[in-house]
Amino acid sequence: MARSGELGGFVLVTGYEEVREAAGASDRFSAYVDGLGAAAVVTEMWEAVAPMFETDEEHHNQWRRLLQDFFTPAAAAAQEQYVRAVCRETLQELIPHGAADLVGAYTRQVPPLVIGRVLGLTELERAWLSEHVRALYDAETLTDARHAGRIYADFLLDRIHERRIHPTADLLSQMVNAQVDGRSTDDDEQIKMTMLLVAAGHLTTADACATAILQLLEDATLREHVSAEPAALEAFVEELVRYEPAVAATGRTVTTATQLGGVPLFPGDRLLLAWGSANRDERVVDDGDVFRLDREHSRPQHVGWGSGEHRCLGRHLARVELRVMLTELLRALPDFRLQPGATVCRTFGVIRGVAALPVRWERR
Ligand code: HEM
Repeated sequence: MARSGELGGFVLVTGYEEVREAAGASDRFSAYVDGLGAAAVVTEMWEAVAPMFETDEEHHNQWRRLLQDFFTPAAAAAQEQYVRAVCRETLQELIPHGAADLVGAYTRQVPPLVIGRVLGLTELERAWLSEHVRALYDAETLTDARHAGRIYADFLLDRIHERRIHPTADLLSQMVNAQVDGRSTDDDEQIKMTMLLVAAGHLTTADACATAILQLLEDATLREHVSAEPAALEAFVEELVRYEPAVAATGRTVTTATQLGGVPLFPGDRLLLAWGSANRDERVVDDGDVFRLDREHSRPQHVGWGSGEHRCLGRHLARVELRVMLTELLRALPDFRLQPGATVCRTFGVIRGVAALPVRWERR
């Protein structure tokens, strides 16, 4: 554990046991963290506390129960055909070009459409969502981000209001009309919740897929193995999430005087739980820095999907998306390789990925 004075001060938690303890003790560590998270693109709404993501204990549990039917392994499997169709369509358009940035042209294209479908948006609305979330996250200035964020928030608000008046059997209707602790949520809470869900559902998967492709570009033996045996992609995806999790870290706030790893902590202290570091803690993980397909991920359970009550709700969906996106990529462009002279830059932050993957292949 290390204290930093940066960004208003926080305590970085890097050890496996300490990270698990903080994630598992919601009576001492709250998921609500003041000032942490994405830029305040829609400032006035960002003040609200997002249900589930930023709440604890019973309130949080009620929300999880309300949403969990949309995220079971069966619900994720039901998306597989759609994911495959979107991947094939996207790749089919790329094949004749012989070159592309796989981040912009592939890994960021598929996940926004999938999370749009999970929410219950129509095909047209999904295309709109996909285009506008990319505009938001690609914005280079705060003014552009605010502008894109406003348009995007207004679009979501319209869908939220529609579902209040005409609820259907979809996830958005379930969220919008939920009664928790005897009350419904207001527009600000709903918009923040929906934006976080869209972000959790696509930025992570897009970045994880880009990191997976980079891993394959860097390790020819591994690539040969999973290309010949697509069934191995399941183990590949799980090891990827352990080895280089897209969500590198998330925050907690200390709510009561306590200790973690022998370090005294006080109410208001902010913690940054480094999932990626915990997954390589040499005290509990053998060869943590080595990417291995033969690991038993249950012993110890890796924390790439988080741990405790907030453990990733979308992990079954993410596993399906990643497996299918990689299978289809290796099938459609078996000979893709980095463009000569290209240097690949990773992106750093609480969400980690790859800035661009300029590759080429033989035109067919
Ligand atoms: C490779 C992809 C993904 C990774 C690595 C990942 C990782 C994580 C992690 C580490 C957390 C825990 C955060 C915390 O405890 O503070 C989390 C929570 C969450 N994830 Fe994911 N995630 C991924 C994909 C997805 C997808 C596709 C969805 C779909 C909507 C999703 C939805 C969520 C939700 C709703 C939570 C909050 C759960 C709660 O607060 O109870 N995630 N994720």
